[in-house]
Amino acid sequence: MSARVPIAVLASGRGSNFEAIQSAIDSGFLAARITLVVSDRADAPVLEKAKAKGIPARYVAWPAAEAGESPASRRNRHESAVLAALADDLPRWIVLAGYMRVLGTELLGAFSDPVLGFSRVVNIHPALLPAFPGLESYRRAWEHGCAVAGATVHLVGEGIDDGPICAQEAFSIDGCRSAEEVEKLGLAVEHRLYPRTLSWLLSGRCAVESRRARFCVRQT
Ligand code: GRF
Repeated sequence: MSARVPIAVLASGRGSNFEAIQSAIDSGFLAARITLVVSDRADAPVLEKAKAKGIPARYVAWPAAEAGESPASRRNRHESAVLAALADDLPRWIVLAGYMRVLGTELLGAFSDPVLGFSRVVNIHPALLPAFPGLESYRRAWEHGCAVAGATVHLVGEGIDDGPICAQEAFSIDGCRSAEEVEKLGLAVEHRLYPRTLSWLLSGRCAVESRRARFCVRQT
């Protein structure tokens, strides 16, 4: 079996993608090891789920704003605290799984990879990007009357949900009667797509390709 790549999971909520990744590790499909689960919410269920699996989990509070402080500086102070929490058992990749914060230069800079030409930070988004970036994407696909919805795994940059696309999977939502039904189908897709994409990304069998005014990541 290949060496297990240390990863940290950042999550703000329920943690079903964390569970899918950990299951893929437990089954031997994904050669990785979760060093730490970090949440910016003290009551995030993902923290308890991680502890129940024996995985270290930490709440790192969003700091109170200092007088006259810019949003970027506040974000970087939070990210410094996250980096300090990660330092005990340094991960190679940061895996975002329902992390409800935009990343800043502190964290992205610390994981910047000169060979990859990007940061080793990856996210899953519940839409076929570039459609429906931002929040409530399954609901918006449903409300828009889309015939298909999907999920995207992408590298993370400073923009919102716009880093290089690694993998996508679409599914029909023609038969769905509610946004909740779309989300249920979507989460099942995510739980397959994320571990599968991580398996080649973490092993380094990947390259960032330049397309017309864009980048994407393909398996090599
Ligand atoms: C998922 O839909 C993911 O795509 C999005 O946030 C949701 C997190 O769900 N980024 P969970 O916390 O992993 O269950």
